[in-house]
Amino acid sequence: MRLKATATLATAVLALTFATAAHAQMSEAATHGKATFDSKCSICHSADTTDKKIGPGLKGLYTHSTLADGATKVTDETVTERIVNGKVPMPPFKDQLTPEQIKEVVEYLKTL
Ligand code: HEC
Repeated sequence: MRLKATATLATAVLALTFATAAHAQMSEAATHGKATFDSKCSICHSADTTDKKIGPGLKGLYTHSTLADGATKVTDETVTERIVNGKVPMPPFKDQLTPEQIKEVVEYLKTL
């Protein structure tokens, strides 16, 4: 009986440790960015594959040397510019998101 309680406690502590570790992987900014992405971007972009939806899947975006056009380098500046101004058929987000929200989305894209 005591052994079982100890085992249960150990499992709970272990689970808590993993939960905390998983959360620590994403910064607060990236966590906010994910929420924005899920509500504003995920209709057109997958986050977990490079397969095309309406726009290119953004998995591993920051591991690519260029954007899908094959010419524009992937940097905070070019990715931010794309979100701010869009690129037909992607709508611009400068009137929908604050600069802070766009920064957070960029932080999130870096985790993909
Ligand atoms: C209505 C659909 C739509 C929505 C909503 C949308 N996008 Fe896009 N996005 C696209 C399309 C289509 C492209 C490809 C444009 C092109 O290069 O011709 C694109 C391109 C991009 C690119 C460049 C990818 C690459 O490899 O070239 C990024 C980064 C991006 N979008 C981020 C976002 C983010 C972040 C949001 C949300 C704030 C968002 N998009 C919302 C359709 C959309």
